[in-house]
Order: sequence, then C-alpha cells, then structure tokens
Amino acid sequence: MKKKILITGSSGHSGHQIANLLQPAYEIIGVDLVEGKYTTQLGSLTNQKFVTSATQGVHAIIHTASLHAPHVPTHSRRAFVDTNIIGTLHLLEAAKANQVQKFIYTSTTSLYGESLNDEVRAVWVTEETPTIPRDIYDITKIAAEGLCRDFFQKEGLQTTVLRVSRFWNEPLEQKILYRMYRGLDVRDVAHAHQLAIEKELNRFEIYNISAQTIFTQADLVDLKHQTRQLLQQRIPKLVAYYQQMHWDLPNSIGRVYAIDKAKNDLDYIPQFNINQLLNELLNAT
Ligand SMILES: NC(=O)c1ccc[n+]([C@@H]2O[C@H](COP(=O)([O-])OP(=O)(O)OC[C@H]3O[C@@H](n4cnc5c(N)ncnc54)[C@H](O)[C@@H]3O)[C@@H](O)[C@H]2O)c1
Repeated sequence: MKKKILITGSSGHSGHQIANLLQPAYEIIGVDLVEGKYTTQLGSLTNQKFVTSATQGVHAIIHTASLHAPHVPTHSRRAFVDTNIIGTLHLLEAAKANQVQKFIYTSTTSLYGESLNDEVRAVWVTEETPTIPRDIYDITKIAAEGLCRDFFQKEGLQTTVLRVSRFWNEPLEQKILYRMYRGLDVRDVAHAHQLAIEKELNRFEIYNISAQTIFTQADLVDLKHQTRQLLQQRIPKLVAYYQQMHWDLPNSIGRVYAIDKAKNDLDYIPQFNINQLLNELLNAT
C-alpha cells in the first residue's frame, strides 16, 4: 500500500507540481480552499476539525498553503495570522495527534528582508543571514518556522523548513535575470520537496532552495557596482540576448541566494538553471 502524503495548497502553483511529482510513489491527499486536479479535500486550514480529520493515516505533510506577497495589499494582518500561523499550528498539532512522521514547511527567502540592504556589496544569503521582516507576510512565515522548530524540539515531530526563492510566472525579462541569483523553476521546487520527504535527517534544519547561481562570493562588490561588466564577462550570451530583445540590463544586483547547505545535506541539484533556460530560449528563436 502506498504511503499517504498530505499536500496543503495542492491547487496552487507549487502544491500542484509537488503532487504531480510525488503521485506515482505516494497516495496524495490534497487540501485546498479551491478545486484542483490533485485536491481531494476542500476546506480551510483555519478549521481545526477539518485539519485533524484530513491528517488521519498520513505519513508526511508538505505545507505549501499560504497567504503570500501578492496578498499583502489586499488582506488584513489578521487574515495572514489566521492562515499562516494558526493554520500551521493546526497542522502541526494534528500531525502530532495523528503520528505523522514528517512535516515539510514551504517558507520563503523573502524573510531575510532588511538584511538584503548593503551599499557596499551584494549580500551572499545563507541560512545564517539574519531574518529581518519587512511586512506581515515575512512576520507570519518567520513565526510559522518557529512553530516547526518548537514541534521538533518539544514534540519530536520531524520538521524541515525549505526557504524557497521566487518561482512566479514573471515577465521573461525578469525571470531570466532572477534565475541567476534569486529565483528558480517550479520543477526544482517540487524536486527539493521530494528530497526533503525522502531524507532521514533526524534533526531540525532550514534550507535555502533556489537555482544554481553563476556568481561566487568573490563577485559580490562587482555584482553590486559593476553589474553589466560582470555579466559581459560571465555570461556574454545573456547580454547578447538582452541586446537582441532591446531589454535593459540591471545597473546593480544586491543579493545571491546560496544553496550549498541543501546541496550538501539533501543532495539538491537544481536542473533548471540560467544556462539551461537561455539555451532553451536561443534554440526556440
Ligand atoms: N510563488 C513564489 O514565487 C514563492 C516564493 C517563495 C516562497 N513561496 C512560498 O511557497 C508556497 C506556495 O506558493 P505558491 O506560489 O505555490 O502559492 P499559490 O498561491 O499558487 O498556492 C497556494 C494555495 O494555498 C491555498 N490556500 C490559501 N489559504 C488556504 C487555507 N486557509 N486553507 C487551505 N488552502 C489555502 C490557495 O487556495 C492556493 O491554491 C507559499 O507558502 C509561499 O509562501 C512562494
């Protein structure tokens, strides 16, 4: 019999992709407010009874459902607290009550917030970089991570946090640039979740999940102040492509998300990096 994995946000961008990747090996219980191919139970995480009943017999939980950055202008602080903190607490309590073995929390690199401001050099962002929230989204994601840590320490529930960078369907011009330092493909998001589910960690850990950057820590000052020159040296085909498309290159890049910890511990090797994306685009023209 296949083990059951509950995915919250199963109708969403990442939840759908994770369910699609895991469904041959596991039975997927998809929980969401709205219908979707992999959503088997419609309901809200703010409803404790619903959450307790949905988690029965479940081996692992992947918790992607969230209010996030686009909801900040349209939703109240209370709505964020209810969905992102209370909803996560309901799931963790239900996981404990129903002897769930693993809990993977989809967090965000957004919570590094104000730490990303540095006038001198681009910031090399590791899991040790301080989290300094900028808005209610960051505040509630940090709190939910704290709940995951607490349930590991006090309740022995195996929780793991994946701080994922951007995988929006951005305009192509932005998506290409982000893929070099602050974004990734949703298929790599799904793969990272699969690795986190399958790894025996026996400790609480937080991992940055992003595409493989082409920059190193030796580039950080140039990345901030000599961006176009650095891009010309490092990835001339990107510069040529931007010229051909009449797109502007950035004057400054202020951060790089480092994924070494996930590579070392989870064997996370992103497949959809900048060179792959550019080759795909160049082959299509
Ligand atoms: N999209 C990004 O670029 C990005 C970047 C960094 C981190 N993240 C994180 O990744 C996760 C997933 O992001 P996404 O882009 O796949 O989101 P999404 O908005 O596409 O999907 C989220 C899903 O959660 C569901 N949901 C919301 N509130 C719920 C509730 N109370 N009960 C049940 N279901 C509820 C929504 O209906 C939606 O289908 C989030 O936790 C987000 O913080 C996303």
